Amino acid sequence: MQKFENFLLENLPMSKSIHPTYEKALHQMLIAGGKRFRPALLLGVVNSYNALLEEGAMHAALAIELLHTYSLIHDDLPAMDDSPLRRGKPTLHMSFDEVTAILVGDALNTYSFEVLSNAPFSDYTRIQLIRELATNGGLNGMVLGQAMDCYFENKPLSIEDVRVLHTNKTAKLIAASLKMGAIIVGREELGEKLYDFGIKLGLLFQIQDDILDVTQSSEEAGKLTNNDEDKNSFVTLLGLPQTIDEANILANELHNELETFDDNLKKELSELLTKYINRHK
Ligand code: IPE
Ligand code: IPE
Ligand code: MG
Ligand code: MG
Ligand code: MG
Repeated sequence: MQKFENFLLENLPMSKSIHPTYEKALHQMLIAGGKRFRPALLLGVVNSYNALLEEGAMHAALAIELLHTYSLIHDDLPAMDDSPLRRGKPTLHMSFDEVTAILVGDALNTYSFEVLSNAPFSDYTRIQLIRELATNGGLNGMVLGQAMDCYFENKPLSIEDVRVLHTNKTAKLIAASLKMGAIIVGREELGEKLYDFGIKLGLLFQIQDDILDVTQSSEEAGKLTNNDEDKNSFVTLLGLPQTIDEANILANELHNELETFDDNLKKELSELLTKYINRHK
């Protein structure tokens, strides 16, 4: 993923203005790191079918990471999860102020689509990519999930509703990352299959995140943990042991489904999944 990190540094959002800290704030969360899980998924798909498209695919990978990073900045705001720490660094509303955190989130959200609109693909492919990111990251995807997450604080939902919540807030963007890879290599049918796989993967990813909230220290996680007590999480509803069972079942299903993919794709994804499918262990 070094290539991705380089691409990100070369394409950091820029501004020329009299604002003394705007640019620093725009960059802070992006360069703080993170697992880059979603870019790695997209690039894994592209590399397994046509590595020559990798350079162009960086635009799409960056677009997803920009949108994801905006979602984290807003997620940490006092009005949402009220967290002082992210990616091992103080959150933007701590380093700067709330206005800055809100506006940097807004800027990264729109910059994400600017980057995608400049990707070196056909107009048709670009439109498909933009649609996929908007559909899954926006009003009927991540944003809806976040709205549900916040609205239903201290209002316990059924576990089925929490699955819907997690699917929206987390799984759809992960599924879109895989599908966007398939769009870039021109494999629509594979895109649908990968999308379904990604929804399950994303659900597991969020369940694991719910587990880590109670099993990791803030220092280990690089973000505030033990912060989900009022949330509808798998752990708050089912307890830790049953949540771990759920995660193990999903992880096994995903490992089995991986066997149904082409060899190259299986190879590209399995290392990634082995690393991230077992985050809760
Ligand atoms: C955190 O995402 C928010 C969730 C959807 C669970 P990540 O765990 O991918 O965070 P980073 O990108 O590595 O910081
Ligand atoms: C956030 O879920 C998902 C997003 C869409 C940002 P969480 O609130 O559980 O993520 P963390 O634990 O703060 O990273
Ligand atoms: Mg949250
Ligand atoms: Mg949070
Ligand atoms: Mg969490």
